[in-house]
Amino acid sequence: MSLLFDGRVVLVTGAGGGLGKEYALAFAERGASVVVNDLGADTKGGGKSSAAADKVVEEIRAKGGKAVANYDSVEEGEKLVQAALDAFGRIDIVVNNAGILRDRSFVRTSDLDWDLIQRVHLRGSFLVTRAAWNHMKNQKFGRIIMTASAAGIYGNFGQANYSAAKLGLLGLSNTLAIEGRKYNIHCNTIAPVAGSRLTETVMPPDLVAALKPEYVAPMVLWLCHEQCQENGGLFEVGAGWIGKLRWERTQGCITRQKNQPMTPEVVRDQWDKVCDFTDSTKPTSIQESLQSVVSVLSKVESEQGVTTSSTSAPVASPTPGTNPTAAVGLKLPPTTFTFSHTQCILYALGVGMSTKDPDHLRFLYEGHPDFGSLPTFGVIPSQAAMMEGGLSSLPGFNIDLTQVLHGEQYLELYKPLPTSGQLTSKATIADILDKGSGAIILLDVKTYNGDELLCFNQFSVFVVGAGGFGGKRTSEKAKPLVPPPQRAPDAVLVDSTTNDQAALYRLSGDWNPLHIDPSFAAMGGFQAPILHGLCSFGFAARHVLKHFAGNDPSKFKAIKVRFVKPVMPGQSLQTEMWKEGSRVHIQCKVKETGALVLSGGYVDLHETAEKSPGAPQAALESELVFAEISRRIQDSGSDLVKKVNAIFGWEITKDGKTAGEWTIDLKNGSGALHRGAYSGKPDVTYSVSDDDFVDIVRGKLNPQKAFFSGKLKIRGNVMLGQKLEIILKDPAKL
Ligand code: NAI
Repeated sequence: MSLLFDGRVVLVTGAGGGLGKEYALAFAERGASVVVNDLGADTKGGGKSSAAADKVVEEIRAKGGKAVANYDSVEEGEKLVQAALDAFGRIDIVVNNAGILRDRSFVRTSDLDWDLIQRVHLRGSFLVTRAAWNHMKNQKFGRIIMTASAAGIYGNFGQANYSAAKLGLLGLSNTLAIEGRKYNIHCNTIAPVAGSRLTETVMPPDLVAALKPEYVAPMVLWLCHEQCQENGGLFEVGAGWIGKLRWERTQGCITRQKNQPMTPEVVRDQWDKVCDFTDSTKPTSIQESLQSVVSVLSKVESEQGVTTSSTSAPVASPTPGTNPTAAVGLKLPPTTFTFSHTQCILYALGVGMSTKDPDHLRFLYEGHPDFGSLPTFGVIPSQAAMMEGGLSSLPGFNIDLTQVLHGEQYLELYKPLPTSGQLTSKATIADILDKGSGAIILLDVKTYNGDELLCFNQFSVFVVGAGGFGGKRTSEKAKPLVPPPQRAPDAVLVDSTTNDQAALYRLSGDWNPLHIDPSFAAMGGFQAPILHGLCSFGFAARHVLKHFAGNDPSKFKAIKVRFVKPVMPGQSLQTEMWKEGSRVHIQCKVKETGALVLSGGYVDLHETAEKSPGAPQAALESELVFAEISRRIQDSGSDLVKKVNAIFGWEITKDGKTAGEWTIDLKNGSGALHRGAYSGKPDVTYSVSDDDFVDIVRGKLNPQKAFFSGKLKIRGNVMLGQKLEIILKDPAKL
């Protein structure tokens, strides 16, 4: 589908020539009404003429497009936006492009050289954008482009004034992206490269001719289209190439110690470490940035700052003179866990199960004929090994539990968990790894019911600041993570956590105040208490259980995940799943932010879980049709989801009984088809026999007639059927 701008009103500043002219022509060609602004100045900002803008308007009109000219300077922001309102009644898109140069070596830069550049580029973009903002906000749509430059990003001799203004625009855009997000106003920044009168003074003529503005304009159009969800990005674009930029930060180094002054000498001595990009991070928000800075306060309090000696001995945590790996093989005292159905139900509620979903009742009601424990309840009896302080007394370690992060989790069940009884857990330090910035303790816990081994957990615990003792970095004992396949997920499930999710989950035994106490969370550098990693883990596991194992706990074998980022209670968790044989690869994102929170994970199912439980094994002709629909969804990228935005449930019957269920999810992620019923309520559900379904898609049976004759039953929004036609069209191939 082509990207069109019918009905959209676009203001391009400085559109009398160069890049701006190309944008104006391209927008007009795709249906937009364009305000062609240009002061008609020379490259240094001198002079004024209406000719430049008029010529572009004439060219657009000659091709049948809609455009008006405006000759004001961008410093008169209101007038430019008024021109759009007067001519076309609205303003949807602002491309801040007008620009001049006054290149001088820094010392020769006059006040005027400085001010003029700031006024046209930075202040001009501010004034035009501010004038458009409320219109965009009220109509809940806006797209803004800021034009930066490689000179701003990297610096360039003789362009101090210009570099400052150009990177100022990036700062402006970063904040507008945040303030505009909830009104569907997106702001992005480009650093273009193109031959124009601005660059002809610095580039050889054949390069000026080769680097055509038309190799930049399509990028600007895409960023300004309603389909584009990019916001707050920075891109370099030229010659038909486009790249995205982001910030990268070193792990850094704490350069002070508790109760001691910070000195320039320590900063000097740690300089290599401050600047070492090994294991660098890529912060994307001020919260993320601040969080790591503030967390240093508690790290220093717990004496994990670096030594102030001039050697580079990095860590205070391992007790001097002892080898932390001496603890490997150590068995911690056994712990017991006594429970009844109350704990099982509390856990199920803690990981988001709800009576809203009738399928969940088997985990929430002890009177249900299939009442059972969720498989991931298996982490609960074993966590006492950690909670009851076994780790804090390891020889060779001086562990401050506030510095302990839960890195990864593996759980394997040998049989379904009981719903009451007394279980014993035995924990062993399986290995200790040195990751430089911290140590990883692998804690293996076996949980027994009497003599019978019930489940195995491996906790991978990261102790911040305890690395650097010269230990190994990897272990064959660690249960490895596995990246998901390189294709769109086979199924995506979204579930919201409640504001009280962590308050509820902690009642299952993880009492760490980090998950409930705001001041404690602040000490750890978090804005608010965070959700337990094992709570998100529980959400993800039950999504898999529901989708690929019909909620049958006996089909569950094992699960592994890495905890990447915290989740805040109230956010929605989106589990993406890929089925490969008996393994379901998983990753989990926060839906609102897109942040990856669980990665490299998988759930292993027992082989027999292949078939949809409850469904007869007889082959259905519909299966082939659904397989083709699945391919079409995968091929369509995310287009279909945007167009359709609905979930369709299908019940295919044979001999009057439901013989197969499918969900066509064109609402979440980039769309998916999966076998089985949807976890929530589909927007519409169709019930039809296998034969009639195949006749309908082959065009032999008219769907309306099938509906009126009762062959096709529809529950929910009947009108959505029309949208479904998009994927059912061209039935010969189905
Ligand atoms: P250009 O000189 O061809 O176009 C700039 C236009 O802005 C001119 O038509 C000029 O009359 C107009 N203009 C100047 N001051 C104005 C004002 N106060 N109000 C309204 N219009 C005004 O230059 P080009 O190359 O097309 O540049 C477009 C933008 O891209 C500029 O912001 C420039 O700094 C930026 N840029 C361009 C690069 C390139 O390789 N061409 C590299 C990096 C950035």
